[in-house]
Amino acid sequence: MGARFIGWGTGVPDRIVTNDELSLTLDTNDAWITERTGIKERRIGGTAKSLGVIAGNRALEDAGVEPENIDFLILATTTPDRIAPATAVLIAHEMGLSCPAMDLNAACSGFMYAVRTAYGLLETGNKRVLVIGSENLSRWVDWSDRNMAVLLADGAGATVLEYDPTENDLLSFSLGAEGADADLLTCEHEGFFQMDGAEVFRRAVRVVVDSAEKAMAMAGITSDDLSLVIPHQANIRIIQAACQRLNVEMDRAVVVLDRYGNTSSASIPLAFFDARENDRVHKGDYALLTGFGAGMTWASAVVRWSK
Ligand code: UT7
Repeated sequence: MGARFIGWGTGVPDRIVTNDELSLTLDTNDAWITERTGIKERRIGGTAKSLGVIAGNRALEDAGVEPENIDFLILATTTPDRIAPATAVLIAHEMGLSCPAMDLNAACSGFMYAVRTAYGLLETGNKRVLVIGSENLSRWVDWSDRNMAVLLADGAGATVLEYDPTENDLLSFSLGAEGADADLLTCEHEGFFQMDGAEVFRRAVRVVVDSAEKAMAMAGITSDDLSLVIPHQANIRIIQAACQRLNVEMDRAVVVLDRYGNTSSASIPLAFFDARENDRVHKGDYALLTGFGAGMTWASAVVRWSK
């Protein structure tokens, strides 16, 4: 069986917040944020629904698919607009979809968890699944806490996956979850995101490398075969450390966190879209898509683009 990515779209707020702007109200500065994270600016605004609708509509347009041709919507989000109903249902209504719709929360691994779930749905009779990663993280940030405020941001990205009996983009997956690490990165109801940054950093590098190696072994490739690594965008130093351990030079990694910060489940589709805009996605090439986040959760996939 095969599943192909047939369209992509993004939706980000217009409002750009630079490091310098944050430094006006927080005890931080552009030099620290740039050096320790790689982030220069981020987008703030919108909701999981509003950004998700923009990204979803653009992905449908890119795929040349009408709303009635989508069989299932999965919204990966850590920051739904409400506890109930699922934000996916609101997005489906706004987009004119008439299909099942659900939210999926695997924190920053959410987009890849949703792609894995979509693959399963395509295997069992669905023709096209819309996967959206959309986040309104700024709502759950204490803007007086410099530890989190410089990192998290808002944004959305989406893709349409289509069943194809002859071609397959998704060669392998390696996913995991470790609830013993739940307290390392949390956000309580009515609370704010809090994180043991250094510990999350260490574990993130470990799980990315481990799951990437498993996914590559399953796909029968080595890191030499990868044209692109499209990682979750949390910290440039995490991406550098993981790439170094995987023997991948940084010019094969896609980095957009300098412009978008950490957008959790939106970060991988935002990075893919940027790579495609810059003509870095070519038919037949192998790519590693890899995410990690609160839970902890992690998810890697090896992809070979069929278009
Ligand atoms: O999306 C999924 C999960 N999230 C992540 O993967 C994030 C993982 N963690 C990280 O990216 C990094 O650990 C951080 C960027 C959060 C922090 O970087 P770090 O190099 O681990 O810094 P640190 O926490 O060890 O702090 C170093 C110093 C501390 O000061 P002292 O104790 O050395 O005097 C902090 O208080 O930097 C200080 N600091 C800041 N200074 C200026 C912490 N945040 C800031 C700030 N501006 N925003």
